[in-house]
Amino acid sequence: MSQLNKYKRFTITSALPYANGPLHIGHLAGAYLPADIFVRYLRVLKKDVVYICGSDEHGAAITIKAKKEGTTPQAIIDKYHKQIKDSFEEFGVSFDIYHRTSSAIHHDLSQEFFLNLYEKGEFVEKFSEQYYDEDFDQFLADRYITGTCPVCSNDRAYGDQCENCGTSLNPTDLINPVSTLSGKAPVLKPTKHWYLPLDKYQPWLEKWIDEKEGEWKVNVFGQCRSWLKSGLQPRSMTRDLDWGIDVPLEEAKGKKLYVWMDAPIGYISATKQWAIDNQKDWQQYWKKQADDADDTCLIHFIGKDNIVFHCIIFPAILKAHGEYVLPQNVPANEFLNLEGDKLSTSRNHAVWLHEYLEEFPGKQDELRYVLTSILPETADSEFTWKDYQARVNNELVAILGNYVNRVMILMHKFFDGKVESEGGNITFTDSELNAEVGRYYDELGKNLESYRFRQALQNVMDMARLGNRYLTEQEPWKSIKTDAAAAKNALHNSLVLIGHLATCLQPFLPRTAEKIFGMLNVAPVAFDEEITFANGHQLNASSLLFEKIEDEAIEKQVQKLADKKAAAAAAPKLAPVAPAKANISFDDFSGMDIRTGTILTAEKVAKTKKLLKLTIDTGIDQRTVVSGIAEHYEPEAIIGQQVSILVNLEPREIKGIMSQGMILMAENAEGKLCFVSPTGAMPNGSVIR
Ligand code: MF3
Ligand code: ZN
Repeated sequence: MSQLNKYKRFTITSALPYANGPLHIGHLAGAYLPADIFVRYLRVLKKDVVYICGSDEHGAAITIKAKKEGTTPQAIIDKYHKQIKDSFEEFGVSFDIYHRTSSAIHHDLSQEFFLNLYEKGEFVEKFSEQYYDEDFDQFLADRYITGTCPVCSNDRAYGDQCENCGTSLNPTDLINPVSTLSGKAPVLKPTKHWYLPLDKYQPWLEKWIDEKEGEWKVNVFGQCRSWLKSGLQPRSMTRDLDWGIDVPLEEAKGKKLYVWMDAPIGYISATKQWAIDNQKDWQQYWKKQADDADDTCLIHFIGKDNIVFHCIIFPAILKAHGEYVLPQNVPANEFLNLEGDKLSTSRNHAVWLHEYLEEFPGKQDELRYVLTSILPETADSEFTWKDYQARVNNELVAILGNYVNRVMILMHKFFDGKVESEGGNITFTDSELNAEVGRYYDELGKNLESYRFRQALQNVMDMARLGNRYLTEQEPWKSIKTDAAAAKNALHNSLVLIGHLATCLQPFLPRTAEKIFGMLNVAPVAFDEEITFANGHQLNASSLLFEKIEDEAIEKQVQKLADKKAAAAAAPKLAPVAPAKANISFDDFSGMDIRTGTILTAEKVAKTKKLLKLTIDTGIDQRTVVSGIAEHYEPEAIIGQQVSILVNLEPREIKGIMSQGMILMAENAEGKLCFVSPTGAMPNGSVIR
């Protein structure tokens, strides 16, 4: 307990997941499972700890999903907040609170934060040209705009971040920007925003982050260093959006807070709510206490795509505010892949948590075990169903389950499950065993405190391996016939070892630990306590801890992924469709005179790329129409084409040519055009209505 002892309390957070879709194993392996292990470890050390999470319910991630599902942002967050919360609970992530950023307490605190910085003059107010989608009448920030990352050339970078290399971006940094609404290149339009001058904080950030060398994970530290090296830019904390937290300024009416300004504050507002519910003082968990800066240890568990927000931007906000503690560590994980491919929500290439819980009921610890064994702690790692099966069968069943089961069965068979010892409480009588277990505890503590959870789990499994070895050497099933005392002694040592195993398993496999304590008929103990078996202690009946995973179950899952992949590949790529315009009256409609007509001549308009000059037989007359279709049709190819033409559109001069009417064209989101014409032969001049 070397480093952690200096803190009075711990505030542990896991990234707030966007409430825009279900959880998958990649989420678990990134920010939730490691944090849950760490928190459970702190709890068995009897530390004062609060574990915070909740749904991130603002930003383009939500509104884009709402549009896709044809519903409101509110309906989306209500649906997914519930689903995510329920899955976490059933899986057993032990948050002290799972809150949501749509709550009033969060809106209030976020606005308070903004105003605090505003009144201190921390923001730089700036008019600038921002990308705008004219078809949708909307500014394009964050996920509303994609393009090529100027740093790593990933062609799917978002307006605020490239998820491939983690760099934080401004929309104007993107190469070939495209609106995700219309699929078109955006235009620029001026708008005012409030910027956090990260450039101004750079010297302070450099110093603060430099102090973390050797303490923070190399992947995290290295990323921060490289961003600092390339120089920080001011970052807008406001957005032109209609979903989010209102910017609390009269002159910013209609603008919202940037989601990455409000979301991390969600950790604090959730703590506030938890404190209200539990009669605690939330400030102790967030604010610097008197003259002792090391009272509270704040740790953020996240995935690697969140590093810049937690290591640069949020600390800058906290620092600008002034009263808050800064994160002591940000142990970000890399990504988890699945069956040789990136996890992908859009391609439905994922193992969804809610589906796993349904299809593998009661097997939470099996998934915890496998994911912990392969956590992407220092590099991306991979989940495969074959590996899941192998680890469950060859490790959980064959090593851990088998060991506990053998000892319990022998105790019941030879001694009716009664622990009898004249010498009072039983402890290790084998000093070698005792010393070795002590070494595992030391290793385990060191690994857990350095966020090496994979290795830590191995320490516990090694303890089980040690138990198996000891039992095989002692052979109590043989000695019982010749030397009953020796057999009893061996089994008692094994029981003590199983008690230690259960103790150490608590952070990793909480249900299994509980089952073992139940079979031993003892209460769970903390790390620094020892289980005591008094003379005459009665063990409970034993049952198997784990079952083998059969081939069929695995084949079914592999097939399911293959089916999903095939379905995703076959599905037509749906381009976004423009929403309906406002209603019009029938009179407005019948005021339009639309007729069938035929193109008689067509020629390019000189010095233009898009325009064709057409002569149309409208049935009423022959007239000239200028039409913007030159990039889609060769003039010769459309002579004789029947079309629909709006004949009473006010004539307009276009490039010196009087255009009398307009040809109706269908246009998709990518800007592809095609004629709208009668499917049967109709005389020119037929009325369309
Ligand atoms: N919702 C974000 C994501 O999924 C994470 C938000 S973490 C917080 O990437 F700090 F903002 F809360
Ligand atoms: Zn990039």
